[in-house]
Amino acid sequence: MLKDCIYLDNNATTKIDPLVLEAMMPVLTDYYGNPSSMHTFGGQLGKSVKIARQQVANLIGADESEIVFTSCGTEGDNAAIRAALLAQPEKRHIITSQVEHAAVLNVCKQLETQGYQVTYLSVNNHGQIDLNELEASITGNTALVTVMYANNETGTIFPIEEIGAIVKEYGAIFHVDAVQAVGKVPLNMKTSTIDLLTMSGHKIHAPKGIGALYVRRGVRFRPFLIGGHQERGRRAGTENVPGIIALGKAAELELLHLEQTRTKTKQLRDRLEQNLLAKIPECQVNGDVKNRLPNTTNIGFKYIEGEAILLLLNKHGICASSGSACTSGSLEPSHVLRAMGLPYTTLHGSIRFSLSRYTTEAEIDQVIAVMPEIVEKLRALSPFKNDDAGWLQQQEQTLVNR
Ligand SMILES: Cc1ncc(COP(=O)(O)O)c(C=O)c1O
Repeated sequence: MLKDCIYLDNNATTKIDPLVLEAMMPVLTDYYGNPSSMHTFGGQLGKSVKIARQQVANLIGADESEIVFTSCGTEGDNAAIRAALLAQPEKRHIITSQVEHAAVLNVCKQLETQGYQVTYLSVNNHGQIDLNELEASITGNTALVTVMYANNETGTIFPIEEIGAIVKEYGAIFHVDAVQAVGKVPLNMKTSTIDLLTMSGHKIHAPKGIGALYVRRGVRFRPFLIGGHQERGRRAGTENVPGIIALGKAAELELLHLEQTRTKTKQLRDRLEQNLLAKIPECQVNGDVKNRLPNTTNIGFKYIEGEAILLLLNKHGICASSGSACTSGSLEPSHVLRAMGLPYTTLHGSIRFSLSRYTTEAEIDQVIAVMPEIVEKLRALSPFKNDDAGWLQQQEQTLVNR
């Protein structure tokens, strides 16, 4: 198994912090009880779960009673959307955006088959939504507005509180998928318009298989998973105690490191971006460079295929991505970049580099050293170098043949 690499795919998943592992180990080994048990051996874990809930709440400026543990970001998104609709059965309209994660988009698509009307807000070529379009589509029949805080592919941050102000005017529920924002952006639910907020452990140095949903006090919430009375009746199923303790510790550490991580990742991300743009001709940054996560850059390299770049990066031991991990393997260009209306010449050759607090300057410099060679090599093989029309024709033909 490959162990060492230059890992610049932190929006896909992150390394577990050793302190997180240390915190969860005892409940994986010695203290394996069930917190719902009457006996002390199990029941004592209730206290640890409560501490973790408080740690998660602290990270987003919420009350501990407003945190519901889930299995992942996908569950949080599904649970939030279903709960918002169940709470207002008379309303049949949902608003989302075209650039959401599959965990929201595919739920919305399924809801359309069940009689809901869904508006998919468009984005401009920086990946930003237009608040006028939101105002034009929202009505008293809108049950839910569900949008992401920050885009997983480009890092573009939506104007969440401005969106929220409009949503509140119309009495709809406001759900925000903050899977990519938590730990990268300061959040405070006490001063926010957000009703429901999704987060996921494995994006913030906790293990996979744990997440949390913030449910604002007073928002009517019906459980997505039905069964026992865990999570005060809001999410059935025996608690993933090791995961919960890990998420709590990870949240505590994210809060502790927040400002430092923001500064460090931004500095290294900018170093990477500026050097690549300076050394490689015909490339551009995709996304809203003024409103962006500090750890993410998405760069489009004209006339070449992102998959080919990734393979060559991989040979150098560098991990990056050409889109969402959930859609990799499909050769379709990213739905996010397509919604942004990127030209075909760049659409296929876009690479996301996403950093974490573990990323070092030496690693960034290694990427800066190899990328120009990689792009040059692939462009030399590309018969369509500087030939937009030829490239477009080839891409269209490939799509027809699929
Ligand atoms: C914006 C966004 N939402 C939801 C998810 C799904 O989270 P999870 O992998 O924990 O199910 C992801 C994962 O990449 C994401 O980036």
